[in-house]
Amino acid sequence: MSNLFAKYDIPAPRYTSYPTVPYWETPPAKTMWVEHLKLALTNQDSAWSLYMHVPYCETLCTFCGCNTIITKDHQREDPYVNLILKEWQTYLTAVPELKERPLRHLHIGGGTPTFLSASSLEAMLKPILSQLNLAPNFEGSIEVDPRRTNYEQLKMLKSLGFDRVSLGVQDFTHEVQRLVNRIQPFDITKKITDEARSLGFRSVNFDLIYGLAKQTLATMKETVQKTIELRPDRIALYSFALVPWIKPAQRLFKDEDLPTGKAKRDLYELCRTDLLAAGYVEVGMDHFALPTDSLSVALNDKTLHRNFMGYTDQRTDVLLGLGVSSISETPNSFHQNEKVFATYQQQVEAGEIATHRGHVLTKEDQERRQQILEFMTTGQVRLNPEQVPLAADFLKEMIADQLVSIQGDSLQLTEAGKPFLRNACLFFDERLKLLKPQTQVFSKSL
Ligand SMILES: C[S@@+](CC[C@H](N)C(=O)[O-])C[C@H]1O[C@@H](n2cnc3c(N)ncnc32)[C@H](O)[C@@H]1O
Ligand code: SF4
Repeated sequence: MSNLFAKYDIPAPRYTSYPTVPYWETPPAKTMWVEHLKLALTNQDSAWSLYMHVPYCETLCTFCGCNTIITKDHQREDPYVNLILKEWQTYLTAVPELKERPLRHLHIGGGTPTFLSASSLEAMLKPILSQLNLAPNFEGSIEVDPRRTNYEQLKMLKSLGFDRVSLGVQDFTHEVQRLVNRIQPFDITKKITDEARSLGFRSVNFDLIYGLAKQTLATMKETVQKTIELRPDRIALYSFALVPWIKPAQRLFKDEDLPTGKAKRDLYELCRTDLLAAGYVEVGMDHFALPTDSLSVALNDKTLHRNFMGYTDQRTDVLLGLGVSSISETPNSFHQNEKVFATYQQQVEAGEIATHRGHVLTKEDQERRQQILEFMTTGQVRLNPEQVPLAADFLKEMIADQLVSIQGDSLQLTEAGKPFLRNACLFFDERLKLLKPQTQVFSKSL
């Protein structure tokens, strides 16, 4: 197996979208974007998801690849909440269907959503939620940094119907935490986990990362054991995405401190073995869940979904993103908000939709997007007749290594192939095949 890890450790997208962001062409014009939102919500049975991005963090974790603004200035809370509310009003005026169709999932991400105080969070959420038609199975979820979260915030969120909370943990060992500038004692993580549970949050998730500076089998063992001790319902075990051309702080790491190739993969395997032994189920790429969690149930029922937020059990027709740099999607197009704060602010204040970039999907994009989604959520997908010989050729090495197989017209991922899911998806990525990037734009696949 070890030589397979070396062989397949190549840059590959995570396919939270297809086409992937570097291959987006031109964004939909404003009228077309509004039209696409309306179109996706025409059907009486349609439902949608809402994402709100809070970019602020008090300190920078040097591994971080997210869209953040580092500041300790909490005077920025109110103006930001007002921008989100203003942006929401602009959308609601343009797409009144948002009020009619059920909202199935609301997720607040960042940055650090709990940078906002309980009262700021309430001021942002209450007016929007009160205008909406919540689905009977509505779910509210939020990413929290345990170092910057308090009971009051959790209590307020629970009262608004939130029942999922995701804690940024990353690694439990002191030396790794020091190197990534994120000292987070175990007791803090435990306290927030216990508080969320005592308030009745149905699901607690931990984000962990493998491949960070100075992680070894021993440190990873400690991290996974401490995780098991707190028994979160879900675990996202992310591969450290090294993208120093986008995130200069990652240049602070010394090459020799970063586990790569087989050493990095061994960290994942160790966690996987321990988590499976502790009763967790491996759900798609990088995710584990207790068998009782709705993600495991969705995996069994083959109703798992994947969008920009990763794996979810909420299949919706529209994901609308509010906030600086937020991404939205409809069956026909992708849309990302302005990433430069001042420009986002100026456009939102003027009542405009603050477009940074996007993509209008061709019919072929839509078909491939569907195939990638199916393969990533079920481990199998039906190929078109003309794709069968092409897949047999493109994936011949993966077939010979027994990582995937083709049975009739169905492409199947084997148990051994699970770590190489991204590699197999490259077959469907016509855009990448046609135009190989000249410089590195994706992190390594393993
Ligand atoms: C917005 S943060 C989570 C909330 C909060 N800011 C915190 O850190 O606790 C989202 C998650 O992305 C993951 N992440 C960030 N940078 C990453 C990178 N370079 N590679 C892999 N995962 C990364 C981390 O696991 C992090 O918890
Ligand atoms: S990992 Fe979380 S807290 Fe750290 S910089 Fe990134 S978004 Fe902020």
